Amino acid sequence: ALAQEALKIGLILPMTGPFASTGRQIDAAVKLFLAQEGAVHGGRKLEVILKDDAGNADATRRLAQELVVNDKVSVLAGFGLTPLAMATAQIATQAKVPQIVMAAATATITEASPYIARTSFTLPQASEPMADWAWANGIKKVFTVVTDYGPGIDAETSFANKFKAAGGTVESVRVPLRGPDFAPFLQRVSEAKPDALFVFVPSGVGAQFMKQFVERGLDKAGIKLIGPGDVVDDDILQGIGDVALGAITTHHYSAAHDSPANKAFVEAFQKANPGMRPNFMAVGGYDGMKLIAKALEATKGDANGDKLIAAMKGASWESVRGPVKIDPDTRDIIQNIYVRKTEKVGSELQNVEFATIKDVKDPVKARK
Ligand code: DHB
Repeated sequence: ALAQEALKIGLILPMTGPFASTGRQIDAAVKLFLAQEGAVHGGRKLEVILKDDAGNADATRRLAQELVVNDKVSVLAGFGLTPLAMATAQIATQAKVPQIVMAAATATITEASPYIARTSFTLPQASEPMADWAWANGIKKVFTVVTDYGPGIDAETSFANKFKAAGGTVESVRVPLRGPDFAPFLQRVSEAKPDALFVFVPSGVGAQFMKQFVERGLDKAGIKLIGPGDVVDDDILQGIGDVALGAITTHHYSAAHDSPANKAFVEAFQKANPGMRPNFMAVGGYDGMKLIAKALEATKGDANGDKLIAAMKGASWESVRGPVKIDPDTRDIIQNIYVRKTEKVGSELQNVEFATIKDVKDPVKARK
């Protein structure tokens, strides 16, 4: 009967290509969730079918279609980049299949389908608090460098609007998503001599950015590095090295988050994945599974898409990042944003949280 039938989740991630670190982190977190919390929820055994879209939106769309039509999945999940989430939204709507966005973070994504719920974050949610911190801490002139697509434009505009309203000045440049060369942009930053450089690059790209930052001598020019936490993500922070020391970032997750639940999570993740540190992508994946499991418990195993998405609205739990809730109006995640400083803790670089802004909603939708 229904109760014994496995419930299939189509998990689409960039497992190869330039954004493979996102796929690797989320895949590891999904496996850890199933190992820790078990595969049976609401009487249904969760069966995850992993597909690699290599970060290519045409592939994501084709894989989503195949998963729905051939594999008859009840849930689509993953979505490592904004264009990949957007390419799937119409399929989720037509098939009435919940689409759990575990990574992509452009604010508008949840408006692309009523079946989308998100467990990552939005760039305005993380970037507006940065504007407040910068202004309150004597920074007057900022240069922004962002990757030129949805999340970068969200980061730039939300930071700049808030910072300018406070009285600051902002100059901005955008760098291509594919094969970025930061050198010419960093040259302009060097000439402009701002108090701070605000950066957004997607997860995994921060190492390359920081290397060129040092090569241009910007680390010695007294320009403070600020931004949402993507540039200093925990997966690559150790490899970036001491140049990241002192960076101030605002984000929803740090592997150094000081709670017993997070310490246990990081330890279990590292035990299962030697050499890897869980980053915010891993937490988006882990909580995405938690959301699916909670919804199935609420529907007592009924995988009807309308019932599942209804059960997700307003769901709340204690995440390893802190308390979270799916906003019933927007299906985005309400969560704490932490202000962090990159520091050396023992021999390791960590993003150490030192202030908390509680229960932050996506500000773009909150203003609508
Ligand atoms: C997106 C991708 C990232 O790697 C990230 O850190 C933030 C946002 C995106 O494409 O939405």
